[in-house]
Amino acid sequence: MLWGCFSAKGPGRLIRVKERMNGTVTGTLALSVFTAVLGSFQFGYNIGVINAPQKIIEADYNATWVHRYGEPIPSSTLTTLWSLSVAIFSIGGMISSFCVGVISEWLGSGAVVDRLYCFLCLILFLPGLASGLVPMYVGEIAPTSLRGALGTLHQLAIVTGILMAQVLGLESLLGSEELWPVLVGVTVLPTVLQMVLLPFCPESPRFLYIIRSQEHHAKSGLRRLTGRQEVGDMLAEMKEEKRRMDMERKVSIAELFRSPMYRQPIIIAILLQLSQQLSGVNAIFYYSTSIFQKAGVQSPVYATIGAGVVNCAFTVVSLFLVERTGRRTLHMLGLSGMCGCAIVMTMALALLDSVPWMSYISMLAIFGFVAFFEVGPGPIPWFFVAELFSQGPRPAAMAVAGFANWTANFIIGFGFQYVAELCGPYVFLIFAALLLFFLIFTFFRVPETRGKTFDQISNTFSKHSPAMIDMDLDMELGKHSTELDYLGEEGS
Ligand code: GLC
Repeated sequence: MLWGCFSAKGPGRLIRVKERMNGTVTGTLALSVFTAVLGSFQFGYNIGVINAPQKIIEADYNATWVHRYGEPIPSSTLTTLWSLSVAIFSIGGMISSFCVGVISEWLGSGAVVDRLYCFLCLILFLPGLASGLVPMYVGEIAPTSLRGALGTLHQLAIVTGILMAQVLGLESLLGSEELWPVLVGVTVLPTVLQMVLLPFCPESPRFLYIIRSQEHHAKSGLRRLTGRQEVGDMLAEMKEEKRRMDMERKVSIAELFRSPMYRQPIIIAILLQLSQQLSGVNAIFYYSTSIFQKAGVQSPVYATIGAGVVNCAFTVVSLFLVERTGRRTLHMLGLSGMCGCAIVMTMALALLDSVPWMSYISMLAIFGFVAFFEVGPGPIPWFFVAELFSQGPRPAAMAVAGFANWTANFIIGFGFQYVAELCGPYVFLIFAALLLFFLIFTFFRVPETRGKTFDQISNTFSKHSPAMIDMDLDMELGKHSTELDYLGEEGS
C-alpha cells in the first residue's frame, strides 16, 4: 500500500491524505468559529435592518418636523437625514476598524478580545472590530487546507444576518410602526450568546506562540483545535514565522506603506476591499426596497428578501468552490458577472417606461448581481487580507484594510441616493465601470494564496521586493505550490 503512494498517482494522493489529516474539523474548532462569526452575524443584521422600515422611519422624521416647524420636511432634508441614518453605522466601522491593530496586539484576536468586543458592542456599535478580528481569528485557528472555506463562514454569517433582518423587517413581524425599535434592538441577542460561549474557545495559538512566546499554551490550544496530540509540524511552521518576525522591526501602519516588502500586499489588500464596496452591493442592501419600487416590481419587500436568499445561497456556493477553484479565479468571475448584471440592469431600467416587463429583467439582474458578488467579491477580500500578511504586520494590515472597506461603505451608504437622483437609471453604469477597473487590477496584480502557508505567502512578496513583483510568474507557481511544498517536505 505504501508503495502505491509513490506510484504515478502516488504523490497527489498522499497530499490529499495529508491535507485531510490537517483539515479535520474538531468540536472545539467548530465551536470557536461559530462563536467568532456571531459577531459577523450581528454586523450583517445591522446592514440589512435599515432597508425595510425606511418608509416608516421617514414618516417618523416627517411627523417630528411637522410637529416642530408646522410644515412637511423638505425632500432634500429627508434625503440627507435618511442617508445619514443608513451610513452612520459605517462611521462606527471606520473608527473601530482602525483600533483592530492596537487591540489585537494588546489582547490577541481570540477569546479575550472578543469578550471586550462584545462589551463594546453592547454600549456602542463597533462593527469594524468584528470585520477585522473575526477573519483574523478564524484564519489563525483554521488548518491551511480549510482556511478559505472557514474564512467564508464570516461572510456566510454576515449574509445570514442580513436575511434575518430582512425577514424580521416584514410589517407583519417587527417592521411595523410600533415594533421597528425592537427590530433594530434585536442585534444585542447574538452578542449575549457570544459572551456566554467565548470562555469555551481557545485563544489563537499563533498569537500565543508568535507574539506572546507562550509555547506551552500555544501547544495545548493546538491540541484542542486539531484533536491531535502530535502538533510538532504546526509548531515548527509557527517557529519559522516567529524566527523571521523576530528579525523584523515592529510593523506600524506607516511602515506598511514605507517598506517595499509590504507596499505591494497592502495596495492589493486596499483595492480588494474597495472592489467589494465600490461594486455597489450595499446600494442594493441599503436601498433595495426603493430600487425595486422604482423598477416597477410589485412587492419590493419580498423582492428584497429574495435578494437576501440569493445572497445566502451563493455564499454557500463560494464556500465549496474556494478551496478548489482558488481565490483569484472566483474573485474575477464575481467581478465580471457583476459588471454584466449592472449593464443589463441599466438597460432594463432605461427601457422600463416603454417596455413594462423590463421590471422582471431588472429584478433578475439584481439577483444576478448579488449572486456574483457572493461568489467572490463578498467573502474573499475579508480573509484574503489576513492571508497576505504574516503575524507581525497582520493586525496593522487588517486595520488599514478595514478602514478602507468601511470608508467606501460609508461613501456608498451616504452618497448613493444623491447620485441615483442625479443619474436616474444610469447610476449602475458607474459601478459597471468600477467593476471593470477592479477586474483588470485583479488579473494583473492579485496572486493566488490557496494551499500556501502564511509564511509562503509573505515570502512571495519579500522574495521579489524591492523590485516590482512578477505576479504573472507567481500566479503560475501558486497553482502548483501545494504539490511542490509537499514534494519538498517529503524529499527532505
Ligand atoms: C460583505 C460586505 C458588506 C455587505 C455584505 C453583503 O460582507 O462587507 O458590506 O453588506 O457583504 O452580503
